[in-house]
Amino acid sequence: MFDASAFITESAEKMQNEIDDIAIIACSGGVDSTVAAVIANQAIGDKLHCVYVDTGLMRKNETEEIQEMLAAHGLNLTTVFAEERYFAALKGVTEPEQKRKIIGELFIRIFEDEQAKVGAKYLVQGTIAPDWIESGGGVRDTIKSHHNVGGLPEDMTLEVVEPLRDLYKDEVRELARALEIKVAERQPFPGPGLAVRCLGELTPQRVHIVREACAIVEEELEAAAEAGKMEIPWQYFAALLPVRSVGVHGDVRAYGETVVVRAVQSLDGMSARYSTIPHEVLTKISTRITNAVKGDVNRVVYDITHKPPGTIEWE
Ligand code: XMP
Repeated sequence: MFDASAFITESAEKMQNEIDDIAIIACSGGVDSTVAAVIANQAIGDKLHCVYVDTGLMRKNETEEIQEMLAAHGLNLTTVFAEERYFAALKGVTEPEQKRKIIGELFIRIFEDEQAKVGAKYLVQGTIAPDWIESGGGVRDTIKSHHNVGGLPEDMTLEVVEPLRDLYKDEVRELARALEIKVAERQPFPGPGLAVRCLGELTPQRVHIVREACAIVEEELEAAAEAGKMEIPWQYFAALLPVRSVGVHGDVRAYGETVVVRAVQSLDGMSARYSTIPHEVLTKISTRITNAVKGDVNRVVYDITHKPPGTIEWE
């Protein structure tokens, strides 16, 4: 049985001993990094500098919500607005692993800038077990390089501290509940953000489309679950595919983008089954997505693949 409060006490003590100087932590607002930040804050208090990077690849309203949530836990937070740097670095890149590497590296470069400003020696990260297991090493194949593992450049000058690296998602959620963190029940969101849900080239407009589509999927599935029509999936979102198809707008031919809706049941993200969603809910999602981003998306499809053989995200 996992004992959340014992884990918190022990890992805070361990960090207190390990971290003898200024540390920065990458806060994404996700449950993993928030739990790591709150425990680190208990351990080293004002030696901890929290940095949130707005990559321009976040979900709708996410930056404001994260800022509020982290402030509520008394964390010392700096927000770096890096949208332009991200889009410039990712311009023309379509290969998923290359995207992940670029995103990971830019993350670290930004932290190095912040490190220089505050004189940090340590980087605390909310890496959990599935992140490094799936990033390869040893006998495992690289399935995807998770941004907080495979993206680390070799010349990095910060010492990395990963208090959650042996834990699985459900254990981190238990910690979050014990720490009264508001994101405790929130669905997981990948480190590279909407980049891995925008297949093909990343442009501000294409990311805007997938951001709106994700917000619609979240709203509709949460409303359907609230109304008792279905169980809330473990993870649910939209991705924009690198596929155009012929459609019709009024009586005019359109050649638009394709959105795929993905919803899965899972325990820890290591394997998953696609969720069944009532057709009326899918219909509403499809209508809303094609209306919301008029002229851009003219086809919405539903992904009926388990993991394996698929993965949860499309990249
Ligand atoms: P996949 O797509 O590999 O995803 O089946 C399993 C779970 O991990 C999330 N995911 C990530 N989380 N950094 C993260 O912190 C990443 O690079 C990353 N890629 C995928 C995904 O959303 C799912 O919950």
